[in-house]
Amino acid sequence: MKKTLVLFLMSALLFSVGFAQNAKTPAEQIANDKVIYQKIDSLLRIMTIEEKLGQLNQVNSGISDHKKGAYLSPDLEPMIREGKVGSILNIYGVDVTRKAQEYAMQSRLKIPILFGLDVIHGYRTTFPTPLAESSSWDMALLEESARIAAIEASAAGVHWTFAPMVDVARDPRWGRIIEGAGEDTYFGTLAAAARVKGFQGEDLSLNNTILACAKHFAAYGGAEGGRDYNTVDISERTLHETYLPPFKAAIDAGVLSFMASFNEIAGMPSSVNRKLMTEILREKWGYKGFVVSDWGSIGEVRNHGISKNDETLGILALNAGLDMDMESKIFIKLAGAVRSGKIKMEVLDEAVRRNLYIKFKLGLFDDPFRYCNNEREKALVLSPKHREIARKVAERSIVLLKNENNLLPLKRDTKRIAVIGSLANAKRDMLGEWEVVGRPEDAITILDGIRAKVDSKTKVVYAEGCTVSRDEKVALSDKGFNAAIQAAKNSDVVIAVMGETADMSGEAHSRSSLDLPGVQLELLKKLVETGKPIVLVLSNGRPISLNGEALKVPAVLETWQLGVEAGNAIANVLFGDYNPSGKLTVTVPRSAGQIPIFYNHKISGRPIEPKNPTDRYKSRYIDIPSDPLYPFGYGLSYTTFAYRNLKLDKKSMKENDTLKVSIEIENTGKRNGEEIVQLYINDFEASVTRPVKELKSFRKLTLSPGEKKIVDFMITRKDLEFLSASLTPIVESGKFTVMVGRNSTDVLEESFELVP
Ligand code: NOJ
Repeated sequence: MKKTLVLFLMSALLFSVGFAQNAKTPAEQIANDKVIYQKIDSLLRIMTIEEKLGQLNQVNSGISDHKKGAYLSPDLEPMIREGKVGSILNIYGVDVTRKAQEYAMQSRLKIPILFGLDVIHGYRTTFPTPLAESSSWDMALLEESARIAAIEASAAGVHWTFAPMVDVARDPRWGRIIEGAGEDTYFGTLAAAARVKGFQGEDLSLNNTILACAKHFAAYGGAEGGRDYNTVDISERTLHETYLPPFKAAIDAGVLSFMASFNEIAGMPSSVNRKLMTEILREKWGYKGFVVSDWGSIGEVRNHGISKNDETLGILALNAGLDMDMESKIFIKLAGAVRSGKIKMEVLDEAVRRNLYIKFKLGLFDDPFRYCNNEREKALVLSPKHREIARKVAERSIVLLKNENNLLPLKRDTKRIAVIGSLANAKRDMLGEWEVVGRPEDAITILDGIRAKVDSKTKVVYAEGCTVSRDEKVALSDKGFNAAIQAAKNSDVVIAVMGETADMSGEAHSRSSLDLPGVQLELLKKLVETGKPIVLVLSNGRPISLNGEALKVPAVLETWQLGVEAGNAIANVLFGDYNPSGKLTVTVPRSAGQIPIFYNHKISGRPIEPKNPTDRYKSRYIDIPSDPLYPFGYGLSYTTFAYRNLKLDKKSMKENDTLKVSIEIENTGKRNGEEIVQLYINDFEASVTRPVKELKSFRKLTLSPGEKKIVDFMITRKDLEFLSASLTPIVESGKFTVMVGRNSTDVLEESFELVP
């Protein structure tokens, strides 16, 4: 009887949900969800406690090194057959995912497995790191690169990516700054939404879309000292104002999975943080998806010192609203706690329900093998079209920081070019961290890109000079200096490629210094002494503080880590086939000692007077200037833009009015160029202190030489809103300053009043 019921339910599940998956209107969605929840309830009725806990259990495929390729550890087979695995991470490739899913189809209830992978900036077609890509300020592009990552990953059997990372990052020592969209919250909300839409597409049930995951909930980027995994101790205001909005934006864009962060906030580790996962996420924001822990993070609560007992930690996590245990192997052991009533069945069922809901949404109950198609995998992964788009994104991620006397762009027929630095010839480092299945052999190096670009008669000489490495013995050697100096002396121009290797940023790669690592600065000094014109091409994960001789170099190009097409994109910019348009989404400090330094800081009671910057009793350093090396929003072009006639259509507005801000931008140079026009607002007087300015809008324009355009921005109540002393959104009458400009410091200003 029981067996017949199971079979009946299973066939009902397998064949009857499909009709509703493509539902479009909200009413159809609600009806669709209702059907899904009914089916889930039927399933829950026949699941054992062990099977329920199995759905909350996420295990590693067995891969520890992606270079060895996709793999399924043999010990997983019996667990899967027994229904003890709800999800596998680090699994990909049609053949391997098919095998795992086949085992699941041999389990009692045949519940499909959810396959997850860190598809952070591309699958095999590696795109620029997320921080790099954010420098394009082009949300359509961010969406497109996530879309392509989803197309490739889904073709290789992957259902779910652990991305986007929507953590606001204001400390460049933190290696994971490379994984986000920089330091600004508003910008972060747009990037979060674009990336979620890109991964999930219009319809999660299509076989070319994947589930996105907003991570790491919450405030992971606020780690003390920029040291990964470290304690976060921030005010409620900072949590709500700075760190939470990108998560909310991800929900509004439809994200259906969240990942809890490793850190504690003000005494509460995120994996057991009920306030975050239940009160804010579910009760306040109405989130319908599930929350996965980070790797082993439930178990790590032992180290945080909340309890040393696994069962207690599992109970705390589940009751707090965590639904899936990534590799702590604690949830799977909670059957006794459920039986003894320490965990209420409703709590367990709710967590299972949230997980199964996603499996239905992905269409896995319709066809568990729908993502397993060898032809699609072959045709789509690293396709020429995808590489082409990766190059386009890479070009737009490059930021021109300095270009004295228009040294750039270089001429293709320059007779002799010296290319110096190990990073010029480093395939692996072009990919950046979290390349996961990306392969070094797919990457175009900077040297390759330059060689392919120059005229046949141009002589390109490469000298390593020094090796960028985390191994001090290698990094401190100056053995290659002479050859590099010689190459520089014999050239007409020197392209010095310097920065960080891929393994100097990303997870667990915090640095205490932002300087060029190793002996690169000494080498640069020697190159400057040759008197040759030098272009410094920075290749790095996080912002680099240039100092000493590096400040004398006439041209500096920030190229981050740009993925498989890095070399081609950089050569296109160096030789003028693409006019750089990127702008920084993160402040570049003069030195790590300036941290925290971000553009939207609060104003102190003793701010520095711009006219008298060394005035004694002011909030400043006595040994270095207090302003950054490059401010947020900064970036140059091979052309120039004039900003004129900032106008407001009225001097005062009421709460429900719209105020029009317009500005004239003219391309005053000799090339076509793109400009990112930025609008900031300061609330001049408020009942709680407000940042000196906050980005509220921006526009990217293309202008031909001599062309002028008027850009209009509309200011509404939302742009003037802030959190009151009791953290509720309000607007207050009074004066506001509007600033429009080419970056966060070079702006034109006007003011208006909000009247009751
Ligand atoms: C730990 C990282 O913090 C997280 O971002 C990642 O998704 C998981 N490991 C899985 O690889």
